[in-house]
Amino acid sequence: MPIPSARPPARRSLLKLIASAPVAAAVPLAAGGPAAAATAGIVKPLPPGLFTVRGTNAEADFAAFRDTGPLTPADRFFVRNHTSTPVLSETDWTLTLWGSGLRGRRSVDFRYGELRSMPSVTRTAFLECAGNGRSFYASQQGETVGGTPWTLGAIGVARWRGVRLAEVLRRAGVASDAVDVMPRGLDDAFVSGGVSLGRVRRPLPLAKAMDDVILAYEMNGEPLPYDHGFPVRVVVPSWVGIASVKWVGDIEVSTAPLHSPWNTDAYRLFGDAYPPGGSAPLTRQTVKSAFELPVHASLAAGRTHLLTGRSWSGAAPVRRVEISTDGGARWRPAVLRDAPRRDGWVRWATPWRPGRTGDTVLMARTTDAAGNTQPARSVHNSQGYLFDAVVRHPVTVV
Ligand code: MTE
Repeated sequence: MPIPSARPPARRSLLKLIASAPVAAAVPLAAGGPAAAATAGIVKPLPPGLFTVRGTNAEADFAAFRDTGPLTPADRFFVRNHTSTPVLSETDWTLTLWGSGLRGRRSVDFRYGELRSMPSVTRTAFLECAGNGRSFYASQQGETVGGTPWTLGAIGVARWRGVRLAEVLRRAGVASDAVDVMPRGLDDAFVSGGVSLGRVRRPLPLAKAMDDVILAYEMNGEPLPYDHGFPVRVVVPSWVGIASVKWVGDIEVSTAPLHSPWNTDAYRLFGDAYPPGGSAPLTRQTVKSAFELPVHASLAAGRTHLLTGRSWSGAAPVRRVEISTDGGARWRPAVLRDAPRRDGWVRWATPWRPGRTGDTVLMARTTDAAGNTQPARSVHNSQGYLFDAVVRHPVTVV
């Protein structure tokens, strides 16, 4: 991808951990199979009770969210890396805005200190991979899909603090006819099937960029951890996680629509239900629910258990959560423990006193305020994005 600026944004102080990082090398592998055998390239510890390593990624254990509050602590937050976490220094870091969509087509640099001195915004929002729940296409629907086989732990909710992207665009001199912006990460180029796709980058419509997008430098009141984008990442509330580019180094601003492999070949829906060229690039996440309980948990008969979980939707706040403890025959409402909010999740609970011993299936079904209810089955797409169906959660009553 050409960078027409006279001063192309350079990669800065990119010290790679990977081979030298004892922490990453010592990661215990919670999931078996060849994909889990790779070194994660992730800086933070990934204890097996809290994470499952999936190639270069780490899935959070949803059951373990039971002892966390509404915010996901950074050390429990899932990591989705196309390559590996770069360890960058904020003193060397510069963000460069460039492209035809800036007045005078000049490029404009922002230093870390400059961003920190600009008016800040704080927003609580979930970050979720578009492929969260992907494994259920195969395990629940018998369908073949490609990609990381997440269960439901590729999500977390954090309080992000940073600068509005709109503010930075305005200061850089965004032109009135700009239509797209494309943030790009400073991590290594992503190689797929022997072909380099370049560094992770995904276009955003200018209208979204000017709305609620943040250039975040804090997560839950602390500087961003290395794995989550230090020193600065993009946060696009409610959209698929790929939009929230980590380790952002430059942003192209364009008067023509922009493209990258992350909005053409990936992160769109392909398959029988979609046009030959695929759906439009993915934007908002769908509605989901998850129990904070291990799969195949054993629960004592004749005792009252408090079933807990969380629900969220990218379209609107959660309105209602229904629970079934008999595989979907009967449903009852769960009690919502948080006020439903846009871009967030709600914790819910319901007591259950199982009478009979044996295997059964728990199910949680969420409806959001826009009227979206989790269906019994998700519409298949070949890359397994946006799984939204009710997930069957097997347990044994003993
Ligand atoms: N940004 C860069 N530079 N490189 C990446 O690999 N992964 C994306 C997004 N931003 C990615 C990135 C994807 S697919 C997701 S789901 C989120 O980051 C994950 O953010 P997290 O690792 O902080 O949870």
